Amino acid sequence: MTKLTDEVKKRRTFAIISHPDAGKTTITEQMLLFGGVIRSAGTVKARKSGHYATSDWMAIEKKRGISVTSSVMQFEYQGKRINILDTPGHQDFSEDTYRTLMAVDAAVMVIDSAKGIEPQTKKLFKVVKKRGIPIFTFMNKLDRDGREPLDLIAELEDLLGIEGVAMNWPIGMGKQLKGLYDIDNNRVELYRKDDDDRYLPLDKDGKLAEDEPLAKDSLYQSTLDDIDLLKEAGNTFDKEKILKGDQTPVFFGSALTNFGVETFLDSFVNLAPAPQEHTVNEDEKLAADDPEFSGFVFKIQANMNPNHRDRIAFVRIGSGEFKKGIDVTLARTGKPVRLNNATEFMSSERVQVSDAVAGDIVGLYDTGNFQIGDSIYAGKKKIVYPALPQFTPEIFMRVTPKNVMKQKSFHKGMNQLVQEGAIQLYRGYSTDDYILGAVGQLQFEVFSFRMKNEYNSEVELHTLGNRVARWINPDQLDSKMSSSRNLLVKDRDGEPLFLFENAFAERWFKDKYPDVELTSRL
Ligand code: G4P
Repeated sequence: MTKLTDEVKKRRTFAIISHPDAGKTTITEQMLLFGGVIRSAGTVKARKSGHYATSDWMAIEKKRGISVTSSVMQFEYQGKRINILDTPGHQDFSEDTYRTLMAVDAAVMVIDSAKGIEPQTKKLFKVVKKRGIPIFTFMNKLDRDGREPLDLIAELEDLLGIEGVAMNWPIGMGKQLKGLYDIDNNRVELYRKDDDDRYLPLDKDGKLAEDEPLAKDSLYQSTLDDIDLLKEAGNTFDKEKILKGDQTPVFFGSALTNFGVETFLDSFVNLAPAPQEHTVNEDEKLAADDPEFSGFVFKIQANMNPNHRDRIAFVRIGSGEFKKGIDVTLARTGKPVRLNNATEFMSSERVQVSDAVAGDIVGLYDTGNFQIGDSIYAGKKKIVYPALPQFTPEIFMRVTPKNVMKQKSFHKGMNQLVQEGAIQLYRGYSTDDYILGAVGQLQFEVFSFRMKNEYNSEVELHTLGNRVARWINPDQLDSKMSSSRNLLVKDRDGEPLFLFENAFAERWFKDKYPDVELTSRL
């Protein structure tokens, strides 16, 4: 095995998905603690007292107490290199999350055990499922009274259509929480015990020694009943199915009290796959340990840190090894680019990367070369990764600078923020007005906040409301077709599209111009 193959095999790159408040930030922090990246759990509570979670970088996040941007965290654990890609939980930022999910090899789904599967989890799950990557489930907040574990597992199958296979099982919950019956490791993990005496071994029949006080506890007895039931009627552990995302290993625990997180992380590191081959150039397979470097940009972000005014393109390395100063070709333009400046992400501190391999994420300082979805490659052979999902915006605003004398900063901010991809820019077809489209309302708030704070440009937003965006073949376009109810605009490639006031306006248009072909994007 070559050194590169060895290194690639050590990588575990994943994202955590959840409905807001299920505990994603808390569990991320616990993992960073195990990885030795942070020394004390900043815990989510610190947000309120002014010490912000390490993964929350932007001012807007601090102000609103939500995690808006996806950040990347990296640490070593049990000889493996872990890359966690953080994703915003708020639904208005789903688009950003969807793209991030294209850059990972596995997903962890955190569920609040009192609430079960919530809407945002369901939505994100669908995207992960489509990718066919393994999904690990953490049923959180066991220190509170939650729903019956059997119900929670059944819900996975009923609502998400994925088999759940229990790796451990709670013994009690809430104030009565005694511990976890650890099926996977054949032991009991006691709640609130110091490290060494936390584990009690089980015998070959999966029973505690009779003289253990817990062995007589009725909660332990009822856990044994559940385990019997699981053995008879539950799903059997199937690694093949797990790797394809058809079965999810389910772990219980409490992120806040750091219970069950380590057990989870240990199993995860063992079961989750190292970077796999990618399909490139439409139908070719490219091995992760192919010696030629290649990767794709899944995110662009400006001004991530007020101390470093810059723009960063996040690249998922798909194959080979990245070395500082490496020369690559940008597939979209065929132009050569030297990658001199890159960072990897150790929590909030940014350190210069010297080299990174397939599976890792590097942040490239970007002076405007890159776009989301761009492929880069170092060898002679062109490598193009599949296109990233693009969503048709639903809410539109006309935007103008408040101070017309500040056109320059207005244009700079607009261009940079639009290139990040969270918001789309359109221009009036004949008027050249600036029109912004987004999937969620909050994106506009973030946009004007950032325009003011980062580019010193106050903007006015005039709502055009919810609109249905449909592209039209330019050859069929006639200027008479446009009206206020179906606004004609052009996208960043100059392609014309209509913003229909509602579905009725679209139908009316179709009736009037039956031969005109209208298309949507995703
Ligand atoms: P998110 O990133 O998924 O949005 O969730 P986050 O970790 O921010 O957690 C949301 C809330 O749930 C926080 O409380 C957090 O302390 C709490 N929490 C997370 N894990 C657990 C757990 O295992 N048990 C219990 N009981 N609570 C948990 P909050 O009240 O919203 O914030 P704060 O007042 O603690 O700052």
